[in-house]
Amino acid sequence: MNETALAADFDATIAADQRVEPRDWMPEAYRKTLIRQIAQHAHSEIIGMQPEGNWILRAPSLRRKAILLAKVQDEAGHGMYLYAAAETLGVDREELTEKLISAKQKYSSIFNYPTLSYADIGVIGWLVDGAAICNQVPLCRCSYGPYARAMIRICKEESFHQRQGYELLLAMVNGTDAQREMVQESVNRWWWPSLMMFGPADGASPNTQQSMAWGIKRHTNDELRQRFVDMTVPQAEALGVTLPDPDLRWNPQRQAHDFGEPDWEEFAAVIAGSGPCNAQRLEHRRRAHDDGAWVREAAQAYAEKHR
Ligand SMILES: [Fe+2]
Ligand SMILES: [Fe+2]
Repeated sequence: MNETALAADFDATIAADQRVEPRDWMPEAYRKTLIRQIAQHAHSEIIGMQPEGNWILRAPSLRRKAILLAKVQDEAGHGMYLYAAAETLGVDREELTEKLISAKQKYSSIFNYPTLSYADIGVIGWLVDGAAICNQVPLCRCSYGPYARAMIRICKEESFHQRQGYELLLAMVNGTDAQREMVQESVNRWWWPSLMMFGPADGASPNTQQSMAWGIKRHTNDELRQRFVDMTVPQAEALGVTLPDPDLRWNPQRQAHDFGEPDWEEFAAVIAGSGPCNAQRLEHRRRAHDDGAWVREAAQAYAEKHR
């Protein structure tokens, strides 16, 4: 088949809402967009282990430690499935890791905020994994097969993450006044960064239309942000916490919540590398990569011996 016929084939696959597989021809821009998105997603899973990993040794009970360990290990697994999905597009993991530690590729802005109290573990599960679920469930129908299939398993685990966070918060709000204050203080810090996880407002998101036309993205950033707010407000009420937004209220005409605008300047600054923990996160990841050099060398030597 010539290029025109291959392109027509690709367009027909997308139009019929079928999956594009690694063996199929695809436009170079589609491949590049997917590599960027999947790599950014994989990096987020891996860097996302750090803020919570910070509390593993300080978990308040054996039960909490076991839950948190399992959750953080899941995130490592998500990173691995996603690097494997990216590899089907012709890049390798080593190359992606290099781009992460040299800050040439991004990861989610949310992981550049510090975890200051154990309530943050609950709030991250509830809000950050909750926002991740809103973003990721539609990706189970992404037009690229390996990414869509990886997302199915990831989403099942994300829902455990959201539940464990909510359950932790329920225990805390039913505890002492000091515990309730810890939860509220943590919600105050995480609410706005969680809303930023959906990316810039639609008007400022130039790639959205093309990604939607390709069936990579199914909803715009603002649609997903709205869905998250509508889902979260009743949960906040059940917990008895206040979401720190004076403009947040139910709009009966729209049958949805109105809410305030995130601080987009802060978002831009965090993405550009000057969030509270950017340097620390990358530095830690670099160190872990260097510490693992002997494992990669040993695996290489072993593979060569058996060739
Ligand atoms: Fe994850
Ligand atoms: Fe998660």
